[in-house]
Amino acid sequence: MSLRIQSFEEYQANYKNSVENPEQFWGEIAETFFWQKKWDNVLDWNFNEPSIEWFKGGQLNITENLLDRHLPERANQVAFYWEPNDIHAEGKSITYQELHNEVCKFSNGLKELGIEKGDRVCIYMPMVLESVVAILACARVGAVHSIIFAGFSAHALADRVDDAKAKLVITADGLNRGTKKVDLKSMVDEGIKNCPSIENVIILNCIDSQPTMQEGRDIDYYQLINGQSTMFQAEKMEAEDMLFILYTSGSTGKPKGVVHTCGGYMVYTSYSFENVFQYNEGDVFWCTADIGWITGHSYIVYGPLLSGATSVIFEGIPTFPDAGRFWQVCEKYKVNQFYTAPTAIRALMSHGTDIVNEYDLSSLKVIGSVGEPINEEAWNWYYENIGKSKCPVVDTWWQTETGGIMLSGLGDLSPMNPTHAGYPLPGIQPVLLDSKGNEITENEKEGYLCMKFPWPSILRTTYGDHERCKNTYFSNYDGYYFTGDGAKRNKNGMYRIIGRVDDVINVSGHRFGTAEIECAINTNKFVIESAVVGYPHDIKGQGIYAYVVIDIENEEDYAIIQSSIIDSVSNEIGRIAKPDKIQIVTGLPKTRSGKIMRRILRKIAEGEKANFGDTSTLLDPNVVDSIVENSI
Ligand code: WTA
Repeated sequence: MSLRIQSFEEYQANYKNSVENPEQFWGEIAETFFWQKKWDNVLDWNFNEPSIEWFKGGQLNITENLLDRHLPERANQVAFYWEPNDIHAEGKSITYQELHNEVCKFSNGLKELGIEKGDRVCIYMPMVLESVVAILACARVGAVHSIIFAGFSAHALADRVDDAKAKLVITADGLNRGTKKVDLKSMVDEGIKNCPSIENVIILNCIDSQPTMQEGRDIDYYQLINGQSTMFQAEKMEAEDMLFILYTSGSTGKPKGVVHTCGGYMVYTSYSFENVFQYNEGDVFWCTADIGWITGHSYIVYGPLLSGATSVIFEGIPTFPDAGRFWQVCEKYKVNQFYTAPTAIRALMSHGTDIVNEYDLSSLKVIGSVGEPINEEAWNWYYENIGKSKCPVVDTWWQTETGGIMLSGLGDLSPMNPTHAGYPLPGIQPVLLDSKGNEITENEKEGYLCMKFPWPSILRTTYGDHERCKNTYFSNYDGYYFTGDGAKRNKNGMYRIIGRVDDVINVSGHRFGTAEIECAINTNKFVIESAVVGYPHDIKGQGIYAYVVIDIENEEDYAIIQSSIIDSVSNEIGRIAKPDKIQIVTGLPKTRSGKIMRRILRKIAEGEKANFGDTSTLLDPNVVDSIVENSI
């Protein structure tokens, strides 16, 4: 491990160098990995197309870097400790050698099913070690994985399977979540019944539910891999070959498949992991995200393994069997770096500190936050009660599209300031733009957060629709990557993220487009039209507020209709996207040209009763009064 910066001065010097000589900077870092063939060019790029190529001509397999490369030194080192949902059940662990062997066996199984380089494979799985094996086996055979969060519905699964034209789904019979068991297999059966691209489904037994297996299509996970060889020659991948697709929501349309490629993603996730968390040999790292989100991809699977780390994977939830679970797990595995989301911190904060103080958290060295802005109260609580006022809080800002952490402190090296994500990592060149696209140079002025230079793990395209990638990220401001976030910079050069400036809402760290939720609501038979906005929510960060016009007048039926709308959203997207508030309205505030004035709806959802600014363009201003009167 030679990637780690060890002082703030060294960070500053590296940062300067990374901006002045980016190719030399990243070339030297890339040299520390194992390449089957070295690259010809470090970087070719053009943000207009966009076309971004890192380490072109280089050939590698990321799994040789995160498994084989480590075996001489780490064969018997634990790669993962697995902590089950049930606190009384026995955990498991897997060493680097064992993980290598399992991945090879699974790779041989995939080959047997006819999976080839470039084929797409969907993974819809719980937080178990076999999921990591499945992910890495895809990478080893050169198949492109598309992990779908197991909280998404059958319908959402089908959309993603179809878009990627996946040949295979890897899933489990079900998953354990607190006191509940969730059936995944029937969700898959339902979802893929109209997906002609699917040839096989691999099913892992997690909850012993003995699901019906479809002859010729379904295969048991262990039946496939038992008896397979523990050797598998990793596929030769070009640096710019696809590693994975991950679907994420934007302001318009259906979720899009963000594409990451092999070489750049490898270099950046490992580099950012070691530096942000200041991971040291022998430390135990724990990221509480789900593998279905980018945080799980980059900081449960790829970053830590590339760096030869030991991590924890947790199957359960923070409040089961009680709100001390996270701290019990930290104590049990002597976790050194802990990485979670503000929504979890706020939820646990509401249970008080007695339960925290039952556990020994003295092993912690760095505590991290990701997914949404962390408010000052939660930051302080986290710093004082979890980090005992001695661990730095790394507030890491990044996105599915950025592949890795972009703005953050580096462990205890950097100055901290609550609610400020902090400084750009080396190689990251953020700017704040005004609405005309000019760079804002003054301090403390809000602007659109953009990037003016590529970094190795920037998205390359959106799967099957390059125009969409260009329009979403590279067309708002010529020559810049646009993040969709608003931010400010303070006099010390630290960034503070304000939040999304588009129609994306962030609910408990999960991203949704308001249009996507509206589409789901509109599938309900009672609904004529709807408008969805986010509003501040104490625990979730943002809640979902839906204004709905229905074709039933009888108020006595409203409760039934509201619950039927929740069912529609659960069916179309998943329960994670269900509205917190549904207000039935007689009409939506529209301009004469028919555009919904969301600005007004947002204010009402925030609790405003008046002062809606200029409403002169509204077709019927009375609509607003009636919405305010009945607001929830
Ligand atoms: C938000 C998650 C403030 C932001 C890694 C971004 C944050 C979106 C932070 C990406 C943070 C993420 N402070 N806001 N530390 N981290 N965000 O793609 O709005 O699920 O654009 O990636 O989350 O969400 P995504």
